[in-house]
Amino acid sequence: MKKATTIEQVREAIGKAREKLRQASQQGGSNLIGFVPTMGALHAGHFSLIDTARRECGFVVVSIFVNPTQFGPNEDYERYPRPLEQDLAGCESHGVDLVFVPTVEQMYPAGFSTTVRVSGVTEMMEGQFRPGHFDGVCTVVAKLFSIVGADVAYFGAKDYQQAVVIKRMVADLNLPIRIVVCPTIREKDGLAISSRNTYLDKHERAQAASLYGSLQLAEELIHNGQRNAKEIIRAVRRHLAEHAPLGKIDYVAVVDPESLQPIDEIKDDVVIALAVRFPSARLIDNIRVDVKS
Ligand code: PAJ
Repeated sequence: MKKATTIEQVREAIGKAREKLRQASQQGGSNLIGFVPTMGALHAGHFSLIDTARRECGFVVVSIFVNPTQFGPNEDYERYPRPLEQDLAGCESHGVDLVFVPTVEQMYPAGFSTTVRVSGVTEMMEGQFRPGHFDGVCTVVAKLFSIVGADVAYFGAKDYQQAVVIKRMVADLNLPIRIVVCPTIREKDGLAISSRNTYLDKHERAQAASLYGSLQLAEELIHNGQRNAKEIIRAVRRHLAEHAPLGKIDYVAVVDPESLQPIDEIKDDVVIALAVRFPSARLIDNIRVDVKS
């Protein structure tokens, strides 16, 4: 495994990898370069993306960069965990070929003046509660795509809106990369695994499992014939109020999986997404419900 800290080192490693992949593909191997962008503090969710990339691609790149521009002024940029040595060991053991760990100065040198802004799908849910967040995400991901030049990039359904936003950006800017969205990996009690779960105290952690519990309740209601989104939102909110009293609900939304527009009457697949703010951490989760099943 190679570690690159500068853009030049990445470009050089990718150039060499392309050459090798050309030869390997003549023996029937994959000639694809796969890319998993992360902010580090790697966990089973990240590793599932890396493992998928490893299965599908001949060369796997992971970036580790806590991107300051996607954090709001009162968010957790400073205290975001940065266990770099552990992350590098994890990448190594999952067969990563190249890890890119840039500095803030590499990514945002003096004079940096460009923002990539996607409208529409950035405006609801996370966009309402984290102003500027998706501008930071899109700008850094566009830069990383441009630096790495991968063929396929892997994102988690855990951050459902982020994946939709990135797909929109890639389509709108004709970026030559394919986006693959992988399923959310959960703890045994259903809590979606997140680097931010480590902030929770034991009372919050116990209550946090009810985020997924409330989404499962919504799914059950839909499968039992409930088609009124307002009723579903009401039931989810009631479940959370009862089972996660330490948390404050930012939103519960029933939306179209592509446009992210709110749905009133459920006729087709929907995504149910929510965000709950505990005193120590803000958590998000979602599920997609297939109405025909
Ligand atoms: P980060 O939160 O580190 O997540 C990196 C990737 O891992 C994202 O695609 C996220 O959806 C995925 N992921 C996180 N938890 C997961 C889980 N439990 N199951 C499946 N996938 C999971 O998302 C970011 O970083 C940043 O916004 C980034 C895209 C790197 C831009 O800075």
